[in-house]
Amino acid sequence: MAKYRIALMPGDGIGNDVMDAAKIVLDKIALDAEYLPADIGWEFWRKEGEPLPQRTVDTLKACDCALFAAITSKPKEEAEAELIPDLQGKGLVYRSPIVRLRQMFDLYVNLRPCKAFKGNPLNFQDGIDMVVFRENTQGLYAGVEFHPLPEEVRATLEKYSPRMAAFEGVPSEDIAVSTRIFTREGCRRIVKQAFDYAHKFGYPTVTLVEKPNVIRETSGLMVREARKISAEYPDIELWETNVDAMAMWMVKNPNDYGVIVSSNMFGDIVSDLAAQLVGGLGFAASGNIGDNFAVFEPTHGSAPKYAGLYKVNPTAMLLAVKLMLDWLDETETARALEQAIADTIAEGRVRTYDMGGDSGTLDMAQAIADKL
Ligand code: NAI
Ligand code: MG
Repeated sequence: MAKYRIALMPGDGIGNDVMDAAKIVLDKIALDAEYLPADIGWEFWRKEGEPLPQRTVDTLKACDCALFAAITSKPKEEAEAELIPDLQGKGLVYRSPIVRLRQMFDLYVNLRPCKAFKGNPLNFQDGIDMVVFRENTQGLYAGVEFHPLPEEVRATLEKYSPRMAAFEGVPSEDIAVSTRIFTREGCRRIVKQAFDYAHKFGYPTVTLVEKPNVIRETSGLMVREARKISAEYPDIELWETNVDAMAMWMVKNPNDYGVIVSSNMFGDIVSDLAAQLVGGLGFAASGNIGDNFAVFEPTHGSAPKYAGLYKVNPTAMLLAVKLMLDWLDETETARALEQAIADTIAEGRVRTYDMGGDSGTLDMAQAIADKL
């Protein structure tokens, strides 16, 4: 039996293009792994009313981790309209498979390394090397929301928070509430992952991005837990910044930062900002990581207009493979893959359209594989 079982979920559109690119590289590195293809995405929503079929969940449960490329998703009404006739009018509701995977497997870390590869014409500045750890399961994206505000919830909020006086007289149907729930353990485990990573890969700082002066309770809890964990890592400095100021600093002095940690929404925003500093969607990979399972993906979507043209940049997908290798502790192979990507970009002979070249997706993947 192979050492690893890895699920491959290409999904929709360019997801297939970049997964083919990943396969070229996976073939070359010849990991002791069995690869299991798994269905996900729009096609399965349309034909089966389920973008994440149970058979895929079963496959994932039998795997160590998964590589996912990209899927298409559409707003509620459009999603319903595209179902095959047999499935229409049955009250089926489209829910994002990737969000469900995060919940199902408790993938509480969203890891987003953003490195400016030398010679990438899309770099905002050379030398940038940031790694964002975003909490992936709690906070403002946990989905605990109300509209209209139920009377019991309103009465409770009024009883416990004098701040509710500001909304006196506003009808409940005119109030929408989205909660931001943090738990001590939720804060602790994401910060701990950030420090462990900084320690493993030699980053001297971890920057906590929150807003405790305004969002006192949730950001406050995160700051207190971060300080406790920081005390366990004397070789790594904890920096604390407010999210708004951080957006400016990341543009002004991006080279100052190494590992960054934040809650779900702030981390989402900061990670897209960081990704754009190093070339944008063609270069942005992420890991959704839990204690026992992980899903690695490029952060871009299915880019329908490029689907099947093999034009898009495979780098994000290949960096997702690199993250997977790190997570499997195949550290040497991960390092070699990153070096091959870096060398290919530095040489500049093989470039996809976003970098100003005219090479195809698979040409670039092949050039990278050739260096391994
Ligand atoms: P997108 O990421 O698919 O593409 C936006 C544009 O970015 C593309 O038209 C292209 O110009 C550029 N781009 C994306 N990936 C690239 C690559 N690898 N190399 C070079 N250029 C690249 O976002 P869009 O157009 O907003 O969404 C298209 C579909 O993808 C939608 O159905 C959306 O819901 C879905 N989506 C899925 C995601 C996922 O699977 N994780 C994430 C984001 C969007
Ligand atoms: Mg995002």
